Amino acid sequence: MTVQGGNTGNRLLLGIDLGTSRTVVMSDHGYKNIIRSVVGYPKDIIGVKMLGKTQIFGDEALQRRSALTLYYPLRDGVIRETGDGDYNAAAELIRHVVELARQGEARDACGIVGVPARASIVNKELLITVASDVLSSVMVVSEPFMVAYALGVFNNAIVVDIGGGTVDICGMKGTVPAADDQVTLLKGGNFLDERLQAAISQQYPETQVTRNLARLIKEKYAFVGATEEPVRVTLRAEGRPRLYDVTEEVRAVCEAIVPEIAEHLAAIFRSYDPEDQPDVLQNIILAGGGSRIRGLDVMLAERLREYGKARVTCVDDPDFIGCSGALKMAQEVPPEFWDQVGFVGGH
Ligand SMILES: Nc1ncnc2c1ncn2[C@@H]1O[C@H](COP(=O)(O)OP(=O)(O)OP(=O)(O)O)[C@@H](O)[C@H]1O
Ligand SMILES: [Mg+2]
Repeated sequence: MTVQGGNTGNRLLLGIDLGTSRTVVMSDHGYKNIIRSVVGYPKDIIGVKMLGKTQIFGDEALQRRSALTLYYPLRDGVIRETGDGDYNAAAELIRHVVELARQGEARDACGIVGVPARASIVNKELLITVASDVLSSVMVVSEPFMVAYALGVFNNAIVVDIGGGTVDICGMKGTVPAADDQVTLLKGGNFLDERLQAAISQQYPETQVTRNLARLIKEKYAFVGATEEPVRVTLRAEGRPRLYDVTEEVRAVCEAIVPEIAEHLAAIFRSYDPEDQPDVLQNIILAGGGSRIRGLDVMLAERLREYGKARVTCVDDPDFIGCSGALKMAQEVPPEFWDQVGFVGGH
């Protein structure tokens, strides 16, 4: 395929990373934003009057949850087609971020949308339909592939994207990854939150730990393997604050996801030609919010030890890297060529 880079038409180019827990948007005009992937609809007419609108997105929706019914468009890494709610929520979330990124401009918008690997396989037509309403050209690709694109690694590399809903492992083999080269595991960050909440409540039954508090503790202290300092956090027992040591709970919960990731990572590694395997072993990339778990790179390298000395690295900016890969691709490959790369649509 030969393509000329650059945005030749008078179009606004967008990269959108539609994640289970947060959606990121960037434009070729320098706009960037990150919002939680949640849409709230007022429960009744009082809610509509009080809030002054019929849909609320992101953190604002969470803050006003008592007046709203909340929808998370992607659960377990796919759009559920069971109820209309999730379908509409995905469409409205995409519309919302496109409108934000437009900043009042009326030009046609073309975008590349990165979604969890499973959605890029299971929901591709649906996603195209949903996004085609607001984008004049759209292509749907998998999030880990977008990370690889941002880094410019197209061959002999494996991207492990540890997100909120899913862990996506994607082998780069010089082409757009096929379904066989990608695995989605359902134990991502949300699973860790649930397990940590349960583990702390079990160890200290007198404390009150919400899912959100468990998430905050995880985001601050998550680690696997050895730790230099104990993890002590303030929890409330019958309203009174007290310091509790949760080192072992944090460690055990974070380590719980390692065996499954290591096993699937090894399976994708073994699918490469033997002469490429030494190269692949030097190119294992961790992305997604979960890549911030301290010690995870070292522990995964240890788990691959039987294959040789692995080099596992974490991306610098896990929040924006997938989205910046999508925007980079939109800028380098003109929309006319998108049908040669992925699944496309538009209005
Ligand atoms: N320092 C941290 N340590 C561990 N986990 C973290 C840290 N910071 C963020 N996370 C977790 O990362 C997850 C969000 O990651 P990310 O933004 O990559 O997900 P996503 O792209 O929305 O989800 P998915 O890829 O599953 O669709 C959340 O579960 C969040 O709690
Ligand atoms: Mg993600």
